[in-house]
Amino acid sequence: MATVTRRIGLSLGADICWPLCYEQIMKQLDLAIDWQGDRVGVEVERVSIEPYDLRQPCRYDVVLDRLTHWYHTSREWIKKAILMDGLYVLNNPWSVQSMEKQTTYCAMMQLGMPIPETWMLPPKSYEPLPDLQPTLRSYARLFDLGAVGKKLGYPIFMKPYDGGGWKGVSRVDNEAQLRQRYDESGKLVMHLQKAVHPFDSFVRCIGLGPQTHLVRYEAGAALHDRYTMDRDFVSPDEAALLRDTTLTINAFFGWDFNSCEALRQGEVWHPIDFANPCPDSQVTSLHYHFPWLVKANIRWSVFCAVTKRPMRRTLDWEPFYAIARRDVPYRERLRAYAAIAEERFEAARFDEFCARHLPHLDEVAWEFFGTQAAKDAVRAKVTALFPAHEVEAFTELFWKRVQAWRADNAAGAAATAATTRESQ
Ligand SMILES: Nc1ncnc2c1ncn2[C@@H]1O[C@H](COP(=O)(O)OP(=O)(O)O)[C@@H](O)[C@H]1O
Ligand SMILES: [Mg+2]
Repeated sequence: MATVTRRIGLSLGADICWPLCYEQIMKQLDLAIDWQGDRVGVEVERVSIEPYDLRQPCRYDVVLDRLTHWYHTSREWIKKAILMDGLYVLNNPWSVQSMEKQTTYCAMMQLGMPIPETWMLPPKSYEPLPDLQPTLRSYARLFDLGAVGKKLGYPIFMKPYDGGGWKGVSRVDNEAQLRQRYDESGKLVMHLQKAVHPFDSFVRCIGLGPQTHLVRYEAGAALHDRYTMDRDFVSPDEAALLRDTTLTINAFFGWDFNSCEALRQGEVWHPIDFANPCPDSQVTSLHYHFPWLVKANIRWSVFCAVTKRPMRRTLDWEPFYAIARRDVPYRERLRAYAAIAEERFEAARFDEFCARHLPHLDEVAWEFFGTQAAKDAVRAKVTALFPAHEVEAFTELFWKRVQAWRADNAAGAAATAATTRESQ
């Protein structure tokens, strides 16, 4: 049996806490997986930024990328490595680069998702490019903003068509506000979207490969309280619908790691923001849910590295469109889209892989999240984000919530430990 090594690269920006936890848990796991006649070890390294020859080989089997959306040197290196070296990356960089919020709305409207009614507006002002005046003079129609507002009905959300991080998002309640916000929007290209109002629940569904995790979200709370620790806030049917929605979106766009925001009004869940292919991964936002994310990341990246999962370089939307044309109720179509997603994410094979090769992960992670090293990782992130006089209090707050996760998951960790021991 040959001993081989797979390498996972972490392509990082300002991430502090999750890489520290990921690296230390991986070290403790010290994997030696029997895979197709080889004994496979997995090493983790941070990817450095430096000049490179386009024809040079790539050291990594998998890269967890957190930079593509804004740091172009790394994005282009990743694209080169996918094209030339068979690298597997979370997420597909071409898709991250080109799929704006508007594209995701259009595609999912076409698949039948109840996206709120949305209009695109030409911007209020422009860069003075040489062709601008002739173009606008000939083709830009004067329009009545108030009429668009009336058509949609208030309240409305005005937000950039390619937005993220709540930048430029505002709620408008009447025509005067609409005109004022539009005047202030400058060169941003804006959507007007009918508000889901009132809504009775707001959920974020984080997807990582075939794994999903639901969190009730409190948008009006302070950053550290937005991800709530609520449980049982949706019925099993609703949980299945939100999972199928997220898997469909993620498989459609080639995003292994993405989060989908949906608001419930009456019986209907309206997805409103699901172009988030570099989701918040910080303990300072996720707190209680942070260990889930680190473990999900380990499972999926190890699976991809060890099995040498091939990267889907092109997206292939036709099977989804074929289902969209079927004359069957939406829920049935959604199930059929999600079945494609489960196949593309190899859900069954992944579950089997985890049960067989990562049975000790639950216990190792559970132990780790009780150690000083884990607490240091929390403190490091808090120190980077909070003023000095708040570091202690917030470190304790997030730590307490991570410990609450441990208390709630102690039985699971002990059970897997027992099974692991029995099978040894
Ligand atoms: N159609 C809508 N109905 C109700 N609330 C909305 C709607 N669109 C946006 N919001 C609110 O505004 C926030 C930011 O909008 P979102 O589309 O998520 O933008 P971003 O991509 O910047 O996160 C959402 O989290 C939600 O609280
Ligand atoms: Mg959002």
